[in-house]
Formats: sequence, C-alpha cells, structure tokens
Amino acid sequence: MARLPKVIVGAVGVALALAGCSSTNNTPSAENSLGTITAGSLTICSDIPFKPFEYEDASTPTGYTGFDIDLMSAIAGQLNLKLVVVATDFDALQSGAALAAGQCDVGASAITITDARKANIDFSDPYYDSLQSLLVPVNSGITSLADLAGKRIGVQTGTTGETYATQNKPASATIVSFPSDGEEWPALQAGQVDALLQDYPVNNQHVKDDPSYVIVAKYQTDEQYGFAMAQGKNPALLQAINAALQTLRDNGTYTTIYDKYFS
Ligand code: ARG
Repeated sequence: MARLPKVIVGAVGVALALAGCSSTNNTPSAENSLGTITAGSLTICSDIPFKPFEYEDASTPTGYTGFDIDLMSAIAGQLNLKLVVVATDFDALQSGAALAAGQCDVGASAITITDARKANIDFSDPYYDSLQSLLVPVNSGITSLADLAGKRIGVQTGTTGETYATQNKPASATIVSFPSDGEEWPALQAGQVDALLQDYPVNNQHVKDDPSYVIVAKYQTDEQYGFAMAQGKNPALLQAINAALQTLRDNGTYTTIYDKYFS
C-alpha cells in the first residue's frame, strides 16, 4: 500500500511525458550535442529501492546512491552532463514504455539484458553479471524451491526473478508479485510471503542488513545488466555511454565503484 502513490505518480508522469512529446527523436544540436531530453543533463529512470544498485541518500546531489547511480554519475561526468534521477516503476521501465514516452534518456535499474526486452529497448554494453536467488527466514526449514509447495513466493512484477519463479516453482506454490523491493522485503519480514526470489546481490544485501534471513539457493541464470534506451531513439547517446563506460573500465573508476558496493 505504501507504494501506491508512487505507482500513480509514475503513471501520470508517463502520461504527461507522452502528452508533451511530439517528436520521437532527440536530435543532437549545437547546444545539446548528445540530444538529451534536457540540455546539459543526463536524465535516468530507476526503480528505487533496489539496494545496493539504487536507493535513497539525501546527502548526494541527486538524492540517490548505489552502484548504478554512482556509475551513471561517472558516465554523466565523462559526457559533461549533470545527472538527474527520476524514480520510475520497474515494470514501465523494462517494457520500454517509460523510455518511449521520453521520461528519461536512460534506464539505469539493474535491468537484465533479454531478447524479449530488445524488442523495445536498445541496451548498452553489459556492465554487471548477475544471477537469481532464494531468500527465506533462518530456521524456516526451506532449502529449495521444491520446499515451497503450498507456500507463497514473493517476486517483483516484470522482473527476471518473476519469470524464473513462475517457470520453476512447484505447481501448488503461489507467486505474489510486488511493484518493488520496497514492498517485497517488508512482506517477507511480516511473514506475508514465505520466500523472495530475486537478483542475488539484492537478496544478499538483505542478509547483510538483517541476518535473520538467509539465501538457501542460487540459480545460475547468467544474467547481465545493461543501461536501457528507447529503441532507435538516440544512437549517438548510446555510443557515447558505451565509450564512457569503457573509459571508466580502463581508468579504474569502474573497479573503485564496484569495490565500494561489492567487496
Ligand atoms: N535484474 C532484474 C530484471 O531485470 C531485476 C531488476 C529490478 N531492478 C530494480 N531497480 N528494481 O528483471
């Protein structure tokens, strides 16, 4: 419930952006050489919280922090742009709708590169390798998906975790889909679901924050995250982001940011 207002705000945002967006192409110009939706800024959409990739932090210029946010901030720096973060519903992001509506230049939200998503989205080069996992309360007796027969599995709507759970759960298990980790994790803590199936680094963060939960299974789904852009909309910006990412890998900045969140 707590999340409902944000979902509505997100939907209104998409509608407003659609209404105000007559041209579909952001044409680079002298004042805006990369054709971003706001000259001088790199505006990113992100579904928050998804710690350690994106979460609130009032002490930063954008109001958010995390691996995606720091990496995007460094990329914006390379491009001489100011980073702006727009909190966006993940399902609207992964479907390509928020991007097509011109809500932001780039989706930076731990988004797994998939063939289905490529139908609507241009992805950057991969920037993070990931996998799925099962999080349960310590001493629950649950050690695998098979143990969830007749029980409830929490997932985030529109995610690869939702797909994996749906395809691999026991027939009698129920999938409960939440709009974000901001509802999913409290639901597990409140006992409203018996397990969470989602990206390993995020479940692992929950264990770090609250050791009364444990990861009992990892699923090697060979996922890679990419930054997402509306398909065909701004190839020059996509190229610039890939070049900046490579520069940050070459000069050690990528490793510094990676170590800050994952070592
Ligand atoms: N990697 C998963 C996917 O792409 C989950 C991403 C969720 N991201 C987020 N910021 N909530 O489906």
